[in-house]
Amino acid sequence: MCGIVGYIGPKQAVPILVSGLKRLEYRGYDSAGVAVLDGASLETRRGAGKITNLEGALAANLLTGKVGIAHTRWATHGPPTERNAHPHRSTDETIAVVHNGIIENADLLRRQLTALGHTFRSDTDTETIAHLIQELYEESLEEAVIAALRKVEGTFGIAVVSSRDPEKIVAARQGSPLLIGVGDGEYFLASDASAILAHTRNVVYLDDGDLCVLTPDGYRVMDIHSTPIRRSVERIEWDLAAIERGGYDHFMLKEIFEQPQTVENAMRGRLILEDGTSKLGGLNMSHDELLNIDNVIITACGTSWHSALIGEMMIEEIARIPTEVEYASEFRYRNPIVTPRTLCIVISQSGETADTLAAMREAKRRGARTLGLVNVVGSTIAREDDGGIYLHAGPEIGVASTKAFTSQVVALALFALKLGRQRTLSVIVGREIAEAMAELPKQIQSILDSAPLIEKIAETYKDSQNFLYLGRGYNFPAALEGALKLKEISYIHAEGYPAAEMKHGPIALIDESMPVVFVAPHDAVFEKIVSNIQEVRARHGKTIVITSQDEPALEGLIDHEIRVPHTIDMLTPILASIPLQLLAYYTALKRGANVDQPRNLAKSVTVE
Ligand code: F6R
Repeated sequence: MCGIVGYIGPKQAVPILVSGLKRLEYRGYDSAGVAVLDGASLETRRGAGKITNLEGALAANLLTGKVGIAHTRWATHGPPTERNAHPHRSTDETIAVVHNGIIENADLLRRQLTALGHTFRSDTDTETIAHLIQELYEESLEEAVIAALRKVEGTFGIAVVSSRDPEKIVAARQGSPLLIGVGDGEYFLASDASAILAHTRNVVYLDDGDLCVLTPDGYRVMDIHSTPIRRSVERIEWDLAAIERGGYDHFMLKEIFEQPQTVENAMRGRLILEDGTSKLGGLNMSHDELLNIDNVIITACGTSWHSALIGEMMIEEIARIPTEVEYASEFRYRNPIVTPRTLCIVISQSGETADTLAAMREAKRRGARTLGLVNVVGSTIAREDDGGIYLHAGPEIGVASTKAFTSQVVALALFALKLGRQRTLSVIVGREIAEAMAELPKQIQSILDSAPLIEKIAETYKDSQNFLYLGRGYNFPAALEGALKLKEISYIHAEGYPAAEMKHGPIALIDESMPVVFVAPHDAVFEKIVSNIQEVRARHGKTIVITSQDEPALEGLIDHEIRVPHTIDMLTPILASIPLQLLAYYTALKRGANVDQPRNLAKSVTVE
């Protein structure tokens, strides 16, 4: 959602903070700001909109100093204006605070602080923290922050500096990620490792309830009672190239084109062709524990929820375990039936999505075993689950999820294969599945080669007002995902439906101005979807059909075809999603939309 960077050391803080903010801009980009201490002088600069606007403000009015904090915002309380941009300052301007998360009792605190004479200058919940720290300040900044946090309800990752204690950054975490970067005689703070990777690979992940104090000489981690805590230094394994565009126009395009590699990475060392099964080291479950699973609940949000729907079908089909999928935001507030023999799979690229995390905690509370399918190593879900399968897709920077989706489906297939082979699946069928999986990277590469054809289709339909995406079986979730990709980056209204459901309402929308994307590879329900294609044609809708290379039945029946290689049914959505991603990308591009940073969105939704 929002991003935090901090620096303390021998160098000028502003260039380090601004370059860190640029790395985090994908997390929120409606305003940004910095606060820098130069001795006892504390100054801030802020700008609405992109970080380039903040750079303009800094160029017009230079800031010097070797201690600073910075923030890029995704608005929750108050519109994205300069006045609401972080850092926020206390009434006496001695304290500056940046904050990710939501302060739930902000209104009450605001009333109390106003009665005590504090002057509010923004509409944000964050500002209350700055005034509260001023109000409670006695000896040191960390004591004042601790006292303030005792009065605050909600979620936060915060960083605070003060002209009253100028050689220090104090930070705290409760429900919003934060880490310390340990450099050589310098220390960093960030909500996401990519912000500081240019300076150090050594990081200390903070846990909920942790508070830390950074000085030019070192760092200390403690709890809210000031009791010191030991946290180990971990090493980031990926490098800067992974978070750069590498010659592509957009991160999204780079990430789409990385998929032969990322799908390979998701399977590396895990697929056992000979036995037709998989080896998944991080599950933390014995053979017997896996056999004891009575039912599976998969919970996630957005694109990850779409991969969950595919996982449900795979697990039921090849492992015969009753499985249900639920939006994490719904699951967390229901009274779901969960037993100690329930396995709850949570899927999240970021590992930080607030609803998914809360759903996982709720499932745990009710006695379920939890398994996280997560991309970001060291993220909260990855650290709190009972076991997991890392996606190994590398950092996903484009706000629209692409490579994480295909890796999620691969991870689900690996898991379903393992469960299946323990239960009902023969080695012969297991091998067929494993061999088909091994083909995927090469097949994805061949689909990417057809990007120019998809670009032409995007050109034809870029001015459409609406799109319909239809699929059946394994490709109904692919249709949902295709529609989500298009709407989130091109702002064209798009809906995904099971193809046969069209007759129950959406067919009323079909006329010559409606492009309908059919996800129709040659699978068990292919003949059925051909009838749906005919129904659209009969009403003069435009048909764009993703189908298999070896499928002759559609000739003369469709307006545009995109061919993908043949694979087994359960893997078809992986291949079909590649052209769907490309269609969304090129359509958005041709409409002049900001592909990597679509309006109103941000990567990693850490608020509910
Ligand atoms: C869409 C997209 C979102 C995310 C959703 C969950 O392209 O990226 O719908 O899938 O916000 O995020 P994670 O997977 O990080 O939990």
